[in-house]
Amino acid sequence: MQRRENGNSARNNSAKLERKRIQSLRKNYERSVAKNGEPPILYDIHEMIGKDKVDQILTSGTEFDRVSPINEELTVTIDRLSAHGDGLALSPAGDRVIAVPFSLPGETVRVYPYAAERLYLKARLVERLTSSDMRRDDLVNCRYFGTCGGCQYQMIPYEQQLELKKRVVHNAFKNYAKLQEGILPEVLPTMGSPATMAYRTKLTPHFDLPSSIRKGTAGDDIPHVPIGFDNVATGRVMDIEECPIGTPTINAALPQVRASILERIKTYKNGATVLLRDSLPDFDASESVVVTDHKATVHEIVGKTKFSSPAGAFFQNNRSIIPLVIEYIEQQDLFSSDKPQYLVDTYCGSGLFALTLAPHFHEVAGVEISAASIECAKKNAELNGITNATFLAGNAENIFANISYPPEQTTVVIDPPRRGCDDEFIKQLVALRPANIVYDSSA
Ligand SMILES: C[S@@+](CC[C@H](N)C(=O)[O-])C[C@H]1O[C@@H](n2cnc3c(N)ncnc32)[C@H](O)[C@@H]1O
Repeated sequence: MQRRENGNSARNNSAKLERKRIQSLRKNYERSVAKNGEPPILYDIHEMIGKDKVDQILTSGTEFDRVSPINEELTVTIDRLSAHGDGLALSPAGDRVIAVPFSLPGETVRVYPYAAERLYLKARLVERLTSSDMRRDDLVNCRYFGTCGGCQYQMIPYEQQLELKKRVVHNAFKNYAKLQEGILPEVLPTMGSPATMAYRTKLTPHFDLPSSIRKGTAGDDIPHVPIGFDNVATGRVMDIEECPIGTPTINAALPQVRASILERIKTYKNGATVLLRDSLPDFDASESVVVTDHKATVHEIVGKTKFSSPAGAFFQNNRSIIPLVIEYIEQQDLFSSDKPQYLVDTYCGSGLFALTLAPHFHEVAGVEISAASIECAKKNAELNGITNATFLAGNAENIFANISYPPEQTTVVIDPPRRGCDDEFIKQLVALRPANIVYDSSA
């Protein structure tokens, strides 16, 4: 009798925990949709499972349930890649998508689904049974690839990676702009980066602090604290001692930065994100150094334009491609008219687009939420002898009340943070109807 009661209470407890898990996932999902819009994988799910079935699952409120084959090893064939680079397969019952990192379309793989997300299961790759023609494992250039969550595509030749990225842009137009196939804009080939390794001028490894250190109970028995990036299968931080996509300067500094944190680990109250920024020490220097202080100023030269910016603020991370992006914008027919042309750089950071493009325009104006970046943008204008640029600190949409440029002579550059533009910004942009829009997406 007693044993049966214990069994019932354990079952009740686990049902309660499951309800809590689903409530919390549902809340997080709603919050994320409100902030970032629907996740791209949802559109793959709709195509793979079918709209009717998705509607059925949503109506029954079971979209987060741990359905079969959760926690069972099985063999699946990958149908496609998600926008984030995971291989996607359909579950045997056809009611869930299974997301498998480091797998490619056409590959048959043994997988272990371990977590239930909304309408899909996250799975670990156990074994690859067949290989895609696209796969070139000899191209992988990192000892952590396949474990670290930082890179997804190293086993794919770069030309094919560019094709995949073009597809992501096409799908973004199709799914988010809600345009019919017939009027979808043609997406041109993706411009490759001159450097595909050793290009990142910023790395931000992080660490979590074990509770014994947080609570001060560790004494001399300090556990090892991994400093690096998230392990794709466990979600826990793994040690990263080198990162081949980081610049040589950053990689040279990484061991010392890690060691100095470990030496002081007891002084931290919580985990932290570590900044390593490759910067010129000054504009005459020929070699860069690493800056770790968020409040320090970093220096960069793009073409002939000099930039100082706060180390903790945004600056494009791939030094090799910035001049090509600027050149590409210059090649578009934005300022050849007889009438004076104007440029508005929204989300302007320390003035990258406004200042590199200023010589082509009658006037340029930039807006940016970070006051420290705007201070730098103003100083950068002075530093480069640019006198036709004004900068405003504030929300991007504030710029519309502050400019009086004729819309038909105005180009707007939009380079928002990862989550994109606010609705208010879009509304005002649409109302302005500028002659040209240049959109630079970090997503
Ligand atoms: C992707 S960065 C682009 C910066 C700059 N264009 C560059 O290339 O260096 C996006 C910038 O938008 C800024 N930002 C974020 N939210 C904003 C908002 N609501 N209004 C204006 N700027 C914002 C961030 O501080 C960041 O500097």
